[in-house]
Amino acid sequence: MTDSMKAVVLARFGGADAFELRDVSVPRVEPRQVRVRVHASAINPLDYQIRRGDYADYVPLPAITGHDVSGVVEEVGSDVTEFRVGDEVYYTPRIFGGPGSYAEQHVADVDLVGRKPENVSHLEAASLTLVGGTVWEALVTRAQLTVGETILIHGGTGGVGTIAIQVAKAMGARVITTARPGNHEFVRSLGADEVIDSYSADYVDAVAELTGGRGVEVVFDTIGGDTLTRSPLTLADAGRVVSIVDIAQPQNLIEAWGVNAAYHFVFTRQNRGKLDALTTLVERGLVKPVIGATLPLARVGEAHGLLEDRGSYMLRGKVAIDVAGETVALPPRNS
Ligand SMILES: NC(=O)c1ccc[n+]([C@@H]2O[C@H](COP(=O)([O-])OP(=O)(O)OC[C@H]3O[C@@H](n4cnc5c(N)ncnc54)[C@H](OP(=O)(O)O)[C@@H]3O)[C@@H](O)[C@H]2O)c1
Repeated sequence: MTDSMKAVVLARFGGADAFELRDVSVPRVEPRQVRVRVHASAINPLDYQIRRGDYADYVPLPAITGHDVSGVVEEVGSDVTEFRVGDEVYYTPRIFGGPGSYAEQHVADVDLVGRKPENVSHLEAASLTLVGGTVWEALVTRAQLTVGETILIHGGTGGVGTIAIQVAKAMGARVITTARPGNHEFVRSLGADEVIDSYSADYVDAVAELTGGRGVEVVFDTIGGDTLTRSPLTLADAGRVVSIVDIAQPQNLIEAWGVNAAYHFVFTRQNRGKLDALTTLVERGLVKPVIGATLPLARVGEAHGLLEDRGSYMLRGKVAIDVAGETVALPPRNS
């Protein structure tokens, strides 16, 4: 093992040019940790929010950021029994709890680490950890979506939305989602039963029409603002709203009260249990990670730009980072 590795370091808060590719020390392993050779990572909105300085109080600089890892175990701590050298694993590093994944090597607490699904690539596995864990927590743990219920998923083409559609279908739900016109067939291919145009249709009216005026049992909000405040208008009686976005506006509590709504606000937590569940779904062919663009480690800043400016592209699902290779695959621009 060499003592140094390449890492993309956030040197200051700012634009996509705030990153520097540096040689840094390989992190040391504590007794209940594993050291992983990172093959792939991915980009989340949280990453560019951190880069801009939205969470400056929680991220001392310089910092290695990044919240998805897929790779191979190279070293295990003295008290680790769950994994061995050579195992393929995937996980989300602890959020706001140490170095992230834009690096050739990463050390993680073993309790966060899951066995990578065998039937997908490292790029695909890395594209699943944070968004998949979030979806599991939102739909299974919190909303407790059940067979035969109808769910409205806002933002069906996003990193979270593409997985939410597939998990909801695997749970036996009827899925209504929102997407821009050129993506309607794409979200149907993931399993969506009905698609509402996210930019021209009024989703409240559209849901009323699609449900015969009854409303949906669950709303999954990945966008915020209007989609959160108007959620009660799309709910059936005693429906549930799960939101993973900032609460930018006060809730429409009168409407929520009127339909006996339950609200769940989720900030995802990392643990192996959720990853094990996702691995099962992926290996049974029920969930497939979606990658819309891939760039190598040295181009993390450019990868941030693609996700931040996703409205300018036909970007479906995740922007992946090929840490161990040089893959370049860019999304088409919107015409
Ligand atoms: N609380 C948590 O634990 C947690 C975890 C993960 C993510 N999040 C948050 O959840 C949000 C979504 O994450 P993500 O990874 O899915 O992001 P993403 O990959 O960038 O996807 C964003 C989605 O929102 C859609 N969208 C954006 N603006 C829209 C608008 N004005 N009207 C309609 N649709 C719009 C996009 O549609 P197009 O494809 O048409 O552009 C896309 O489907 C982010 O705010 C992220 O920070 C929170």
